[in-house]
Amino acid sequence: MSTLSLFPGEPDEPSERARLNALCDALEAHNFAYYVLDAPTISDAEYDAQLRALQDLETRHPEWRRADSPTQRVGSLQRTTLFAPVQHREPLRSLDNAMNSGDWDAFYQRLTRALNAPATESLAFCAEPKFDGLAINLTYENGRLTTAATRGDGDTGEEVTLNIRTVPSVPQRLARAVPGLLEVRGEVVMSHAAFAALNATQQAAGEKPFVNPRNAAAGSLRQKDPRVTARRPLEFFAYGVGACAVPLPERQWALLDWLGELGFHISDLRAAVQGRAAVLAYHEKLLAQRSGLDFDIDGAVFKLDDRAHQARLGHTDRAPRWAIAFKFPAEEAQSRLLAVDFQVGRTGALTPVARIEPVFVGGVTVSNITLHNIDEIRRKDIHLGDHLIVRRAGDVIPEIVRVRPEQRPADAAEITLPRQCPVCGSAVVRPEGEAVARCSGGLFCPAQRREAILHFASRKAMNIEGLGEKWVEQLLGAGLITHVDDLFQLTPDALQHLPRMGEKSAHNLIDAITQAKATTLPRFLYALGIPEVGEVTAASLAAHFGSLDALKAADPATLQAVPDVGPVVAEEVHTFLAQTHNQAIIDGLLSAGIHWPDPTPAPASAQPLAGQTFVLTGSLSQMTRETASERLRALGAKVSGSVSAKTTAVIAGEEAGSKRDKAEALGIPLLDETALLALFATHEARQD
Ligand code: IVH
Repeated sequence: MSTLSLFPGEPDEPSERARLNALCDALEAHNFAYYVLDAPTISDAEYDAQLRALQDLETRHPEWRRADSPTQRVGSLQRTTLFAPVQHREPLRSLDNAMNSGDWDAFYQRLTRALNAPATESLAFCAEPKFDGLAINLTYENGRLTTAATRGDGDTGEEVTLNIRTVPSVPQRLARAVPGLLEVRGEVVMSHAAFAALNATQQAAGEKPFVNPRNAAAGSLRQKDPRVTARRPLEFFAYGVGACAVPLPERQWALLDWLGELGFHISDLRAAVQGRAAVLAYHEKLLAQRSGLDFDIDGAVFKLDDRAHQARLGHTDRAPRWAIAFKFPAEEAQSRLLAVDFQVGRTGALTPVARIEPVFVGGVTVSNITLHNIDEIRRKDIHLGDHLIVRRAGDVIPEIVRVRPEQRPADAAEITLPRQCPVCGSAVVRPEGEAVARCSGGLFCPAQRREAILHFASRKAMNIEGLGEKWVEQLLGAGLITHVDDLFQLTPDALQHLPRMGEKSAHNLIDAITQAKATTLPRFLYALGIPEVGEVTAASLAAHFGSLDALKAADPATLQAVPDVGPVVAEEVHTFLAQTHNQAIIDGLLSAGIHWPDPTPAPASAQPLAGQTFVLTGSLSQMTRETASERLRALGAKVSGSVSAKTTAVIAGEEAGSKRDKAEALGIPLLDETALLALFATHEARQD
């Protein structure tokens, strides 16, 4: 008996079923073009014909009907919510960095030790470029793209599915059948050519240009309207897999080959390398190629090729133990020094700012470089008109590396510290042995007053929403305020007469000022702008003394009993609080109604952070988040996973994402890792 006669329909079935799937995919693509991109790909009649063909097939074979079939939805597309939080099934981790060959050797030693491999054996690596773009997690279910999310804080990203669907190198459907779940990870980048063209269009339209291709790529994916994303030429390079239902190849190299077969772009710069010399040679070669590449890269990534070894090594909270990013040295460029201005800060400190010929370095155009003080100018022997080598330190803050004295123009003048404050004309003083020169004008100096008011209003201080530079300058200029306590005497009437300020913004500002009256003692102390008193010290002082009166009564010796307060800080705090004009301002603030809850007395059980709630986000470099949480809990604090108005502070490590943004939006103090370490140093020492 032949199988054919038993199952008469069978020979046609595979092709019929394939046709059904093809129709689903085609209609989905047409829907996307029509509804999202506003750029129909076929006529309505053709669309209807295809839809009817699909309906026919589904009527004959209801068992084949896909849940995501276009017949199951009324027109339009499967709805996805742009930027909604997406909890990653597996965290998107970062990479540890090697800055030089010594770091590489240390990494290699860690590997051989952990794997018990003989030092003579040379481990094999899959080497690839470190793309300087934006990490994306693509979720495929039964071969179809269902969700795309950004990295976010590594645990939770943002949904960008519709926008990602416009990227041509992201397959909507995998080229080969992969049943169940597959998460593909990679980087979205923008080519230099596309970046230049985009910026030309931006400028022609009077819009702000993007600083570098990475920002342009990120900005393009963050569009509310996918049609805008569709016009931005983005490319996706796959470099790894997250959660997955099928067994994966045994080698990293083969995993990338497999991703290539599924239809993803894989960098053609990858290489299989074995041994130290080959690793260093790959890094050197890639560095030499860097400037000629289409895309920005900022290093080479080396991944242990044996995936069983990868699994044995596992990962820390932050990064896998089996991979490392061997970064490139910061890019340097040449420019010229045009002028040096001195800016006056909140405490009167004069900071030299070098104005240089604009130069593109490390992905941004640099035209101003802040110098520490006049000593740095002397040490680096910088003269006006000098040719300079500049770079972005840690790829962020621009700095002058050195000058080229051999190219110094004959008339290059020396740079001197002004004798008078460039803003108020008061004498500039520089106490013996101190690096910082200051304007002696105190609150007479408009620059110091302006900065003091901006600091007072800032998010981490009194958090007066909307009171930024524009308002402060207007208020000072119109003589409506002189000191911070005057803010609380403002009326909507007085504000409305200011140029370009409407009734609504006047009311909003008054509301914000009124709301800010309810604060906390640490915020208030920080807002006063006492020299040397940052957020952490303000919190320690408040915790130690419990009330403003007790703090005011403390002499320098008593102040030094506070764990993180040394003689310099103690002196500053004491002097500040003893000055009559500061006392008058504080009294003015209190009588205007600024108040804070009474401190809850610390229980004798020495739980210094009792009643406080912290949220940890991003990655820490000196410890895992778990360890940090344990240490916080040991001090009596609560550690929570989400930010709310009740959060005391958010500890934001590297690459912190949405939680950091939320904290900023709610005006909740953000602490970095250094501040966290200071917090531990303060309280853990006290407990011992
Ligand atoms: S692997 C589990 N490979 O670099 C391993 N990451 O500094 C984690 N990146 O957020 C990532 N190029 O977005 C890997 N070839 C590459 C990469 C790469 C760029 C990014 C990635 C990650 C960041 C970590």
